[in-house]
Amino acid sequence: MKVLLLGSGAREHALAWKLAQSPALTKLWCGPGNAGMAARWECVGVDVLSPSAVVALARSLLVDLVVVGPEAPLVAGVSDALREAGVLVFGPSAAAATLEGSKAFAKEVMERANVPTARWELFDDASAAARRARVWGPVVVKADGLAAGKGVVVAGSGEEAEAAVRSLGALPAGRRILLEERLTGPEVSVMAFCDGARYALLPASQDHKRLLDGDQGPNTGGMGAYAPAPVLDAKGLEETGRTVIAPVLDVMAKAGTPFAGVLYAGLMLTPDGLRVLEFNARLGDPETQPLMMQLDEDLLELVATCASGHLARQTLRVHPGVSIGVVLAAKGYPESPVSGDPIEGLDAVKGVEVFHAGTKRVGDQIVTSGGRVLTVCARAATFNAARDLAYAEAEKIRFAGMHYRRDIGKFMTG
Ligand code: AMP
Ligand code: GLY
Repeated sequence: MKVLLLGSGAREHALAWKLAQSPALTKLWCGPGNAGMAARWECVGVDVLSPSAVVALARSLLVDLVVVGPEAPLVAGVSDALREAGVLVFGPSAAAATLEGSKAFAKEVMERANVPTARWELFDDASAAARRARVWGPVVVKADGLAAGKGVVVAGSGEEAEAAVRSLGALPAGRRILLEERLTGPEVSVMAFCDGARYALLPASQDHKRLLDGDQGPNTGGMGAYAPAPVLDAKGLEETGRTVIAPVLDVMAKAGTPFAGVLYAGLMLTPDGLRVLEFNARLGDPETQPLMMQLDEDLLELVATCASGHLARQTLRVHPGVSIGVVLAAKGYPESPVSGDPIEGLDAVKGVEVFHAGTKRVGDQIVTSGGRVLTVCARAATFNAARDLAYAEAEKIRFAGMHYRRDIGKFMTG
């Protein structure tokens, strides 16, 4: 199969690495990709937010399958345009991706599917939400739309909640505001490959969203991740499939918008049982990096059967042991990342995978070109061994202002 993979993050580099292990792969293009992907596969410039540009590229390359990594092209309708053009695509329709694109829509689907989630109220205008927030007291305030990880504020008091309503209400994503009951407990992510009706679960994973060790500092896109996450055992994983993924697939199919792609459930394990905090319509970044190292399946076969509606299995084989991914970030990340710093030491790294994100080649030199620069991923028999390996190799890499967390996989929860 000839495959076009859309995206340019470390998630996509990990997907490319895994797709390339399939005997069925004859050619892989990455659009637009990054310097790490370009070292092994052909990268092509493309505006991934333009459905017509992606269709034209897929046609000109005569690809058999397009794999969509990030959420923005999904919400922009790239999958729909490809399907209409008769191109096989792994990634949900824009209508199905609304599970990620609108938190209010996700809540309505959860209500219909009887999926356990926090109590919520939806407001069409910020002043009504602000008045109500005062009454709720400690509450979670969410902008309805896509806000690149900046759309949620966990407020400790009515005053904080009011301020959050005002600031989120000013975002384009904040035209509608949700107030949500504040839950407590460890968080864990469960991702399912779906073909519109059936699903197969990846092991549970956990990411570390805060910038600094000990879950301190501002939120980021994710500073590291590990899988499997022991906080959710096999029974909990099975329960998530049965009580969350299956009923949502059912509701989406009955509504005429079947979900085919990766359905990502962000869960909180509360004292009263598991609750869904959010859905994403794609694989997580950085969780995908360690997950691809754990997965012992032909990824190309898996995504192709999901794309064609013929997913044949419910359980996925995984390697023994655990994988850990440590994100190396650029100076100034997340507020104002600096680009253009030369990266040294990449050739010295051994026994791990280094997945690129914000990197580009300038002459013979690879330089930084984004906030999250690399994910160093190690697989080993135990967490301690995987951590030791990942950090020993990460230390061989250097660029000006490089920073990373030292506690990935140390069972920080919440
Ligand atoms: P979301 O994008 O909806 O997953 O929210 C981002 C983060 O906000 C989550 O990872 C949680 O840490 C926190 N959060 C979201 N909803 C709640 C909730 N109902 N109770 C407590 N924390 C929450
Ligand atoms: N790591 C969380 C996400 O990809 O949304």
